[in-house]
Amino acid sequence: MTDLTIKLNNGELMPAIGLGTWRANESGLLAQTIKTAIGLGYRHIDCAKLYGNQEEIGKALKEVDVPRKDLFIVSKFEENRHRPELVAGALDEILNELQLEYLDLLLMHWPYAIKPEANAMSFASSDIENVPIMDTWRAMEDLVSTGKVRSIGVSNFNQTILEKMIPQCRIVPAVNQVEIHPYLQAKELVKFCKKSGIAVTGYCPLGGRRVNVMNDNFIKHVAEAHIGTPAQVALSWALARGIAVIPKSTNEIRLKQNLHQVTLTSDEMRMIGKIERHERKVDPASDNEELEWVFHEDKMECPVI
Ligand SMILES: NC(=O)c1ccc[n+]([C@@H]2O[C@H](COP(=O)([O-])OP(=O)(O)OC[C@H]3O[C@@H](n4cnc5c(N)ncnc54)[C@H](OP(=O)(O)O)[C@@H]3O)[C@@H](O)[C@H]2O)c1
Repeated sequence: MTDLTIKLNNGELMPAIGLGTWRANESGLLAQTIKTAIGLGYRHIDCAKLYGNQEEIGKALKEVDVPRKDLFIVSKFEENRHRPELVAGALDEILNELQLEYLDLLLMHWPYAIKPEANAMSFASSDIENVPIMDTWRAMEDLVSTGKVRSIGVSNFNQTILEKMIPQCRIVPAVNQVEIHPYLQAKELVKFCKKSGIAVTGYCPLGGRRVNVMNDNFIKHVAEAHIGTPAQVALSWALARGIAVIPKSTNEIRLKQNLHQVTLTSDEMRMIGKIERHERKVDPASDNEELEWVFHEDKMECPVI
């Protein structure tokens, strides 16, 4: 099914299955992948300034035969654009690259800021700067009335940050995009987001390239029982939890496969719930221990909201 949607807290509908584009240009097939995916029925495309491939995506989007209003285009601005006076320009840069008039959803990619001249792909501890999250968020709130973005949200936000942030928001984030797969299930965070009216999008829903969810024996067993694939089981499990998924593939067969779910039994859902390993693929603390607060709330408190 490709028509599953998630209703956001402002009434907008987000297609529940999207296409991930991180490292999707490594194959040299990104433009073709976008066109193939849209031809197959994908309507939600997950982009980011950080991925360095939005111009190619923009060109491909110009060549597809689907009206703009039927697409749901998401992008994220980098940590070096958190100063409030830089946020509107960050959106304009993204729109220019994607050759779009508006985004369906703009996300703050990370809850920390780095200096404007620092490189978000590789930065030193000395590049990290204290820009209160709410200052950046208020600048995002101001963008909604410009018509250049329909919804605004966050990514990689933990529950503690959201709890402090929500009472101060004029617009509660529509979405929190976080890493979720059977080895990192984020049960508490998902429960909290749902309770707060924040939709959750799961990134690395197949476990990404390094976490071996696809080879998990139980996932494989469930896939066989449904005459499906491990990827379909991982995606169906997240969708059944009400979580949007954005698997990346540049392979037509896998793109097609990822659009079709299997119907998991409640026992299978419960059993997959037990293979949690708290195995995180994406963590800025692996390069900068000052950023341990992003995902290790128990060890370090978030410095500025
Ligand atoms: N907000 C954030 O900070 C953040 C961080 C990371 C990722 N993301 C977003 O989330 C998206 C997805 O995450 P991801 O790309 O890291 O990982 P992923 O989607 O979990 O996994 C992608 C890997 O799985 C393979 N694959 C895809 N479909 C498959 C299938 N049916 N069977 C077997 N293998 C399959 C892909 O290879 P092939 O291409 O060869 O099929 C690729 O190697 C990203 O592309 C990006 O848009 C966001």
